[in-house]
Amino acid sequence: MIKPSTIDDIKNAMDIVEVVGDFVTLKKSGSSYKALSPFTAEKTASFYVVPSKGIFKCFSSGKGGDAITFVMEVDGLSYVEALKYLANKYHIEIEEEIQTDEIQQAQNHRESLYIVLKFATEYFQDLLNSHEEGKSIGLSYFKERGFSEETIATFSLGYSLNIWDHFYQAAIKKGFSKEQLEEAGLIVSKEEKIYDRFRGRVIFPIHNVTGKAIAYGARILASDAAKNQPKYLNSPETELYSKGQVLYGLFQSKQHIRQKDNCYLVEGYTDVISLHQVGVNNVVSSSGTALTEDQVKLMRRYTQNVTVLYDGDAAGIRASFRGIDILLEGGLNVRAVSFPDGEDPDSYSRKLGATAFTHFLNEKVVDFIKFKTSLLIDNVKNDPIKKAGVVREIVESISKINDAIKRSVYLKECSDLLKISEGVLIAEQNKILIANNKNKQNQRSQDVQEPIFVPLEEEVLTVTDFVKIISYQEEESIRVLLNYADEIIHDTGDERLSLMNYFISESEEIVFSHPVYDRILRAMIERSKQSLPINLEYFLGVEDPEIQKTIIALSAPKYEISEFWKSKYHIEVPKEVDFIKDLTYSNILRLKFRVIQHLIDLENEKLKLANEEEVDQILDEISEMKQTEMQIAKILGNVTVK
Ligand code: UTP
Ligand code: MN
Repeated sequence: MIKPSTIDDIKNAMDIVEVVGDFVTLKKSGSSYKALSPFTAEKTASFYVVPSKGIFKCFSSGKGGDAITFVMEVDGLSYVEALKYLANKYHIEIEEEIQTDEIQQAQNHRESLYIVLKFATEYFQDLLNSHEEGKSIGLSYFKERGFSEETIATFSLGYSLNIWDHFYQAAIKKGFSKEQLEEAGLIVSKEEKIYDRFRGRVIFPIHNVTGKAIAYGARILASDAAKNQPKYLNSPETELYSKGQVLYGLFQSKQHIRQKDNCYLVEGYTDVISLHQVGVNNVVSSSGTALTEDQVKLMRRYTQNVTVLYDGDAAGIRASFRGIDILLEGGLNVRAVSFPDGEDPDSYSRKLGATAFTHFLNEKVVDFIKFKTSLLIDNVKNDPIKKAGVVREIVESISKINDAIKRSVYLKECSDLLKISEGVLIAEQNKILIANNKNKQNQRSQDVQEPIFVPLEEEVLTVTDFVKIISYQEEESIRVLLNYADEIIHDTGDERLSLMNYFISESEEIVFSHPVYDRILRAMIERSKQSLPINLEYFLGVEDPEIQKTIIALSAPKYEISEFWKSKYHIEVPKEVDFIKDLTYSNILRLKFRVIQHLIDLENEKLKLANEEEVDQILDEISEMKQTEMQIAKILGNVTVK
């Protein structure tokens, strides 16, 4: 048990921004901080840290709490483990009370495995650096590979003696049990015989994000390579280690990944280490297996940019393409660098040295989709069937990107590279998106779907554009009302509805952001309530020069041209008055859409300062508003204006 006074010390020392900042990239937003949630694969930030309250809140996963809770959640630690992590971070010495309670011991099972692994790691390190065999075989091997002493220490590299149960005996002597050692994956017991899992190998400890050893990769030595043994032996999956949830090198690289806002992804231990050695220290490896969603999430805690370093021949690279889609799906920006034939990041970095290698990476980096496209198209020649396959594969990757604007940019670029019209690519993409959408709907996914169809030219709207659009919608509403407010748009005999009444009934809550438009609107509503006419004459008599100016500018119907067309060419062009109802309807929808968006913004602001009890209610409100927003967006998508 950790002493209560020590726990107090930890709580006093911990700073939520610092603690969370070790795991996610925080951006200041008013008095709080915002980030992409480390718990989900979200695209827009809904993870907040409120320093004044010492808490975090993740709105996409619902998790929230103080720095201790955060560490527990993010690293899957127990309360005690989290406290120890924080104590270590803030250099607080842990004072433990002697523990007798069996339940407590059971809870500390994981903890005890960490201790076993810590012992083993240090033991292997000692052998490498101090034992004759370790020095002459292990250390000289690493030196030959060009690893410096600093690098060897940074990665806690070690050596295991070539004796059946040397480590086992040492660990037992130290007081660890056979069961513990087995559960930690360090020994193998077979038919009453017990032997060390790793013998006569150099040891690469695998650390979790907090820097604790949880498993090992152990490489056979060059001179033993003929013995028909696997080159690398790895720890089995244990309570502490599951392969798909770990990135090798992340602990050593995470700070640099965040600083450089990019993560290099390589194949194995030696690539990670060699790159560090030449100063490319923002690098991780997936340990030879296909990337998992968990690993992608792990990367996203530190950056949104990943650069995949490819070695090997074109065929090998092609085979690994599918695995990369998971990075695109995870919302990461993916780039790629390929290496000359016969070189991998490890060998090539050693060959070029720090400066030339960094230069090579910066020079050769290309966007992943383009990389994939050029590589696949090389193989097609003039075979139309192969080409169709390639097109499908590329579009498949593009459709994984959860951002319509990025997708449309890629489609455009790939249309050039593939020499296929963009329309065909868009059609292909829409097929895939619709199919995916159906699948997702079948799975009753909670994700908000993005609109499927991407217009050919998609523009990014800036805040200024948005303000302009709003102002335009307000102006349009005023103009239509000014010209047609008293027009009867609905007449059933007993019920006659003027456009103004219709507008008011549909949009009572609307307040225009443009002050003059809002004053005009208020006046109109007032007149309508008193059953007075709303027309030019009235507004021209109002003693407000700004209103007068605006009114004059807006008083002409937009489609005067129709008379001219009719008389000259005998073409019937509908007059504006013929479709004012629709026009007003879509104007109202647009205005409501904006009001909703504004309300959502306000709620989001509230969220930042909300306490635990308030949060649920605010979230409900937001989700309700989001639904309305989606509904309006949908209708607007089908209504054509102007
Ligand atoms: P390599 O075969 O290049 O390993 O695999 P190496 O240690 O660099 O050997 P040499 O010196 O080039 O011959 C590259 C990475 O692939 C993983 C390891 O992480 C290694 O660093 N790997 C390789 C395994 O996990 N298991 C294996 O059996 C082989
Ligand atoms: Mn190698």
